[in-house]
Amino acid sequence: LIGIPVDGDGMRVDLLEPVLQREQPRLIYTVPTFQNPTGAVMSAARRRALVTLAARHGIPILEDDHVREVRFGDPIPPPLAAFDRHGNVIHAGSFTKSLIPALRLGYVVARGPLREWLTALKRNSDLFSSTLMQRALSRYLEQGAVQRHWKRVSRIYRQRHATMLAALERSFPPGSTWTGVAGGLVVWVGVPPGVSVTTLYGEALQAGVSFVAGAAFFPEPDDQPFLRLNFAAVEEARIERGIALLGRVIHEHFEAPADRSGDPRTCQRHLERPIR
Ligand SMILES: Cc1ncc(COP(=O)(O)O)c(C=O)c1O
Repeated sequence: LIGIPVDGDGMRVDLLEPVLQREQPRLIYTVPTFQNPTGAVMSAARRRALVTLAARHGIPILEDDHVREVRFGDPIPPPLAAFDRHGNVIHAGSFTKSLIPALRLGYVVARGPLREWLTALKRNSDLFSSTLMQRALSRYLEQGAVQRHWKRVSRIYRQRHATMLAALERSFPPGSTWTGVAGGLVVWVGVPPGVSVTTLYGEALQAGVSFVAGAAFFPEPDDQPFLRLNFAAVEEARIERGIALLGRVIHEHFEAPADRSGDPRTCQRHLERPIR
């Protein structure tokens, strides 16, 4: 597994070509829309460049478009699959985030040999997904009600996202970094030097707050100075309480963390770490 750096415009496609030449990977996996964990959206120019580059090297792309429907900011560019002229992109969507996790249903858009290969793999792995659930979901989608659902949850999540950013502003130490997102479910927060996220995680759990430690998203996990916070699953009052508690734990357990807020590279830096 080789991580490619990510910035505010998504995967650094300009850094990908030497890696393709050197490592000759078998697959490029990417989450171009609301990337997990940074929430970054890949620009249209990079999407086009990525699809062209991968086709030139004959390497298929798996586009994980798991939460495209939940958006509350600027319009997002078309999926990578829309730029694909060679049947080189596997586009995967899911209803886990946008509708009901327990459905365990998603979909794949693929063409040509990749499609045949995926169909055989699916047959060999579990024969098929529940046809009853597929039929029920298909009925629901045909009625068009899902559009209303996506609008409603996007409105709720926009508010929760704003609440989380405001709470971070109030409670996190100077030098912490985060970037607002235009959709999805999570915010990626960098902590100042001196704060151990591993220690913070244990202490925060005891105080009743959980998050995903940033190390989970790097190919070589160690104590990465990042937290992934989910704003979607929690009501606003609890977001405020949870962030205040996290802020208090940081202040109690770490001596005045160094202030990085004046450093213009901090945001860039936290997005440019290789991310799994
Ligand atoms: C990046 C990413 N892709 C896809 C999914 C959804 O997976 P599934 O459809 O198997 O529930 C998730 C859920 O956590 C995710 O974070």
